[in-house]
Amino acid sequence: MTHAVGLPALSAPTAPLSSFYENALHAMELGDPALYGLMDDELRRQHETLALVASCSPVTPAALLAEGSFFANVTAEGYPGRRFHAGCVNVDKVERLAVERAKQAFGARYANVQPHSASTANQVVMNALLKPGDPILGLDLDAGGHLSHGASVNISGRIFDAHSYGLGPDGLIDYAEVRAQALRHRPRLIVAGTTAYPRTLDWAAFRAIADEVGAYLLADITHIAGLVVAGLHPSPLAHAHVVTTCTHKQLYGPRGGLILLGDSAETVLPTGRTLRQTLQSGLFPLIQGAPVVNSIAAKAYALGAATTPEFTARIHRVRDLAAALAEQLVGRGVRVISGGTDNHIVVADVLTSYGVTGVNAEKALEQCGILVNKNRIVGDAHSAMVTSGVRFGSNSMAARGFELADVAEVADLVHEVLTATENTANTTYALDPALQARVQERIRSICHRRPVAGY
Ligand SMILES: Cc1ncc(COP(=O)(O)O)c(C=O)c1O
Repeated sequence: MTHAVGLPALSAPTAPLSSFYENALHAMELGDPALYGLMDDELRRQHETLALVASCSPVTPAALLAEGSFFANVTAEGYPGRRFHAGCVNVDKVERLAVERAKQAFGARYANVQPHSASTANQVVMNALLKPGDPILGLDLDAGGHLSHGASVNISGRIFDAHSYGLGPDGLIDYAEVRAQALRHRPRLIVAGTTAYPRTLDWAAFRAIADEVGAYLLADITHIAGLVVAGLHPSPLAHAHVVTTCTHKQLYGPRGGLILLGDSAETVLPTGRTLRQTLQSGLFPLIQGAPVVNSIAAKAYALGAATTPEFTARIHRVRDLAAALAEQLVGRGVRVISGGTDNHIVVADVLTSYGVTGVNAEKALEQCGILVNKNRIVGDAHSAMVTSGVRFGSNSMAARGFELADVAEVADLVHEVLTATENTANTTYALDPALQARVQERIRSICHRRPVAGY
């Protein structure tokens, strides 16, 4: 075996796992100080800033360890027991474990753990079930739908004849409007799933509409997967033909996707094949090649953790912290879309409340160590790069073990920053440097007091 000059020899393969990771860390530190330094900087940045971006959460360290493992060395096209390559004895066990844990966590009859992302999972479902040019119907991108639900700039909007439904003036899904659009466009598939929606989705209402027009119902629970597992949001499995999710938002797992089926798994389609068979081949070989096995190992860890009482407690905290944040903001006179939240998301109309655009609010808060994202709101006159709103999420606060009193402190700081932010143009702003330094220090101190569990 040869080694890079100056690096210590790797331990024998039988050495404990800890030696492997210690050696790897050592090799990185000595062999690539530039990258090592960037990793160190990023860990510090994450430790000292408060991430309220609703679409992310800190990956559980043990899942990160699995993802950074030597399972990455294995090419494993196919499925357990039917691979196109040798050397899959442990990989097969890992994938089966991940599948069983996904089924258990969601109460599913079928799980496919191979999708590289939630977007890919959606692409698999659409391409497995539909023909190019078939009509589909999803929530409009500007109203909080996702690119992969038929946006014109996405492959889903290019391959299929995509139509959309919007939100009512109250910011809520108007099921009569969904039905009207469905009757008008006769979609072959309806997507029920959102990226910035603070309220509970009515799966039964979506299914009734899908049945009326003879469409498949795809429930994309990417944002609310943890709430579904913990029983704090109704599960779509009994209603939707297919369910997709990512594993990296509320499951605190690696970046990746899942496809899940309930009793619909054994439904025989007009092709004579079951839904289960159709999706299995719809992923491989239709859309993907070899799975990312190390990511599947990390999914196995996260899905196992998702059935523990600690996870349920954390998700309760996710919901309670978001509710508290909404209440605190409303109490300070902020216009919160729909008046509150049922999940982890709070959307605030910062233009009406503070006279600043979403992008300026995002930048001003970031200067102070508070990370959010600009978000369009119903009837928004501004583009997606400017916006009138901001989206907050509570996943990371829950991973930091925040208490309700911490939320009040954060709401105070957000309010102070946004009150002091001057909109000098739609995309430029002014913020007093002294205030910025003071708030940043307070945020740093909160973050030190409440480090992310395991980091
Ligand atoms: C509802 C929904 N579906 C799909 C996705 C895409 O997920 P991924 O980044 O894993 O492709 C997102 C991303 O935020 C989302 O909100």
